[in-house]
Amino acid sequence: MSISSTTSTWAAGDYPAMARRLVPAAERAVAAAVPGPGTTVLDVGCGTGNAALAAARTGAEVTAADPTPRLLATAERRARDEGLPMAFQHADTDRVTGTYDRVLTVFGAMYAPDHAAAAAALVRHCAPGGRIVSAAWTPDGLMAAANRAIGAYLPPPPVTAQPPVRWGDEAYVRGLFAGHDVEATVEHVGFAFESPLDAADFWVRTAGHVQAERDRLEADGAWLALHHDLAAVFTEWNRAEGSGGAVHVESAYLLAVIRPVPA
Ligand SMILES: C[S@@+](CC[C@H](N)C(=O)[O-])C[C@H]1O[C@@H](n2cnc3c(N)ncnc32)[C@H](O)[C@@H]1O
Repeated sequence: MSISSTTSTWAAGDYPAMARRLVPAAERAVAAAVPGPGTTVLDVGCGTGNAALAAARTGAEVTAADPTPRLLATAERRARDEGLPMAFQHADTDRVTGTYDRVLTVFGAMYAPDHAAAAAALVRHCAPGGRIVSAAWTPDGLMAAANRAIGAYLPPPPVTAQPPVRWGDEAYVRGLFAGHDVEATVEHVGFAFESPLDAADFWVRTAGHVQAERDRLEADGAWLALHHDLAAVFTEWNRAEGSGGAVHVESAYLLAVIRPVPA
């Protein structure tokens, strides 16, 4: 997939609304990275800047990189609003430049078309003695279940595409970073909604790859069916107490801390 097709997809939905709900995962990843004054940090696939800003608040010298101009512009505006001095690169995992004490990627590198190349790039960008922290949705979690429901309505991905959620599988990540020291734990982000349909509306509104297909799905009469299938996923995953219809779901992600071992 070219950089422009990737970025137009990410820009098509209201991703910033989703990103606001993902702040706890970014803060968790930054806590695992332990940045601070005197450390340099790179956030790859920074989106609207959740992890980059959290790292910059510790006094670290932060560079935030993303291939989607619209999301990167939001990250820049947020840094300006908070008075955080940060550097920005319009680049994907392969094209980022520099080496850093901490390399973060929170639901970012998992979307690279070539996982092995992206992992090698993260190692390349990590300074000697540094660490990489990666957060990625797990293959058996809510995010993957919602994507399976959505995927039934979308064109199949290219045969060469590597499913992003593989990056959330511990054994797969150990393989990607073979030869390096890897510690991994499964963590969760919680989401609350008024109802399963409210959850489905939010998911569809914030998902660029769905919004990009909206006209076709409406013309095919599939738009409502997609919402109902997705609402069924939220009903199945709902952990809210009581019968009021409210939804509370937890989405699992793999948090991996990788300490590159010199060759
Ligand atoms: C789910 S968002 C995560 C954004 C942010 N890190 C957060 O936690 O909200 C995925 C991000 O990955 C970016 N992205 C897509 N392909 C990428 C690639 N090959 N390398 C780096 N980032 C990529 C997108 O532009 C988007 O900003």
